Amino acid sequence: MAVTLDTLRKMKQAGQRIASLTAYDYSFARLLEAAAVDVVLVGDSLGNVIQGQATTVPVTLDEMVYHTRCVARGLERALLLADLPFLSYQESPVQALRSAGRLMKEGLAHMVKLEGGAAMAPTVQFLVERGVPVCGHLGLTPQSVHQLGGYKVQGRGEVAAQHLRDDALALQQAGAALLVLEAVPRALAAQITGDLAIPTIGIGAGVDCDGQVLVLQDALGMNPTPARFVRNFLAGHDDLGAAIAAYVQAVKDGSFPAAEHGYD
Ligand code: KIV
Repeated sequence: MAVTLDTLRKMKQAGQRIASLTAYDYSFARLLEAAAVDVVLVGDSLGNVIQGQATTVPVTLDEMVYHTRCVARGLERALLLADLPFLSYQESPVQALRSAGRLMKEGLAHMVKLEGGAAMAPTVQFLVERGVPVCGHLGLTPQSVHQLGGYKVQGRGEVAAQHLRDDALALQQAGAALLVLEAVPRALAAQITGDLAIPTIGIGAGVDCDGQVLVLQDALGMNPTPARFVRNFLAGHDDLGAAIAAYVQAVKDGSFPAAEHGYD
């Protein structure tokens, strides 16, 4: 049965972990589908791993639409989530609606993801009220890397932690149905996950999130300088399908991420 927002909500309620990975093309989408990945994210991380750019900032909406469409052709069951790239949604809610519309109508995405907290809540509400499912993204938001001063853990210290908790609630109240938490201390991610009715998907945010996501190339050991939260699932496996299945299994049984993949 196809994974829907309702499926993800019920998985959270039942304590069943959500397995998510990125994909950018048809062939890998088929492998993820075969391994029963629940949410396939066409991330703007394609700027890094497909295009070789230093950041996600240069990625365009046309590029996101193209890759989302390629991935859509390989999926049947998984929910297809696509990133709104930098400055394709921050200008106004109407700009966000037009961009999201392209990802859904041309790319066949089921849901769009945008970065930012309370400041983006009016945009999230505008999209949701017009039938666009939205996933938020808090913590390390790579589109703001130049503002953050690098790829650093976020939410450390009580003031920053409270800020993140407030942002998460604001996004949920605005109608977001899913929330990615990136590079956040484990205890804070656990607290936010407990506070929210919507599922959280962690990346470098500890095992207590409702699900996990990794960039596919990282999970397959293709990154020569991986972040601390990455595990190479190809190690010890003969083929890509087995590695992806091992990732899904490790997320589902809670053996990934381990303590060493997180931040205190
Ligand atoms: O672009 C991406 O791949 C992402 C994940 C890191 C969550 O946003």
